[in-house]
Amino acid sequence: MPSRRRFLQTAALGAAAGALSPSVLSALDRSEVPNPEPQWIAKDYRRLKPAVFQWPSERAVEEHMRLYRGYVNKANELWQKIAELDRDPAKANATYSDIRVMKVELTFAIGGVKNHEVYFDILGGNGGTPTGRLAEAIQKNFGSFEAWAADLKATGIAARGWVWLAYDFEKKTLFNYIGDSQNLFPIWNASPILALDMFEHAFFMDYGANRAAYIDDFLKHIDWAAVSANFERVLRMASL
Ligand SMILES: [Fe+2]
Repeated sequence: MPSRRRFLQTAALGAAAGALSPSVLSALDRSEVPNPEPQWIAKDYRRLKPAVFQWPSERAVEEHMRLYRGYVNKANELWQKIAELDRDPAKANATYSDIRVMKVELTFAIGGVKNHEVYFDILGGNGGTPTGRLAEAIQKNFGSFEAWAADLKATGIAARGWVWLAYDFEKKTLFNYIGDSQNLFPIWNASPILALDMFEHAFFMDYGANRAAYIDDFLKHIDWAAVSANFERVLRMASL
């Protein structure tokens, strides 16, 4: 997620672009648009964090990994196709056009990559409770760890896809957000430090439709050291 400073810088760039005359804008052609190389590389969690494969069942985690690698491949494919896209504004259309389809689906692919990485990064632990500044923030923002866990459980049961514990740079608070699909309901200028996958592939093989039991066991396998590391990184970003 962009920092406030970066957001303001981006906004300033946008305002500058808006000041360009139509003749200058029409002179922009594909040669002036960056043509980036594919950006996404699937992490090898079997090597990086084999404990992730201890819960839920190995076949369920393999299903996540298969989807994750697919999102990486599609993010790279779309990234390259967008770089090669004909940017003639006359061909753009808000109902259907190549640029609309590719840019919308790019958010789905990148969301599938990033959300799964947060989910895998914070799994593979022994549950328990957080410590240090993260514990203090949860206490301050939710009242207690138990209240946070109850809110996460209710939010997860109510979700159709993703749930995030995220830090809001504006309010300087932690909150459990519902994202549903991976490109729905993002909160700008907030950063997730924990992700809970509530898509059916995440729990149905092991828990059937019992979402509550899946979340209870998710809480028992959180790697709180990893969540704390995410939180400390976010706090450093907030101080920039
Ligand atoms: Fe998943």
